[in-house]
Amino acid sequence: MNTQQIQLVKESWGFVIVKSEEAGQLFYSRLFEVAPGVKHMFKGDIKEQSRKLMSMVTYVVAKLDKLETIVDEIKSLAKRHDKYGAKKEHYSVVGECLIYTLKTGLGDRWNSKVEEAWTEVYKVLAAAMISNQETAAVAAR
Ligand code: HEM
Repeated sequence: MNTQQIQLVKESWGFVIVKSEEAGQLFYSRLFEVAPGVKHMFKGDIKEQSRKLMSMVTYVVAKLDKLETIVDEIKSLAKRHDKYGAKKEHYSVVGECLIYTLKTGLGDRWNSKVEEAWTEVYKVLAAAMISNQETAAVAAR
């Protein structure tokens, strides 16, 4: 992820976060449409869940130029996801839904550079989550 990509992600997220409730709703309705099998994993109120997801993304976006400072938080998030039953294969569908939400939310502001930048962010984040889950699984054996 280069500086220009970080900048693009920060700028574009600013336009999504002002409509964060709609964006969160769009994300989960898309997720449950394309992956109905994960719906049962979400036990709480989706509006609340949506707020948590949006604020976590906001947090990560703010730290993109110093991701090494949030490694522990990502590790804990990964551990909690292990308990929720999130599997490696779920990360790609969640990533697709995130891209779909951003694309829809950004409208004319969406372009291939923005898409590449967000794809990179999600790749880094998902890889960190998955590798932490795998490390935890090995440690639990
Ligand atoms: C990098 C990607 C992801 C991020 C940033 C993320 C973020 C979050 C956050 C912030 C929460 C709130 C609770 C907490 O902090 O522990 C949460 C809960 C949850 N996430 Fe994720 N998540 C991601 C990927 C996934 C994936 C791939 C799945 C699999 C389907 C998933 C399923 C869940 C479930 C089931 C909950 C708990 C819902 C409940 O308690 O009702 N997440 N996620």
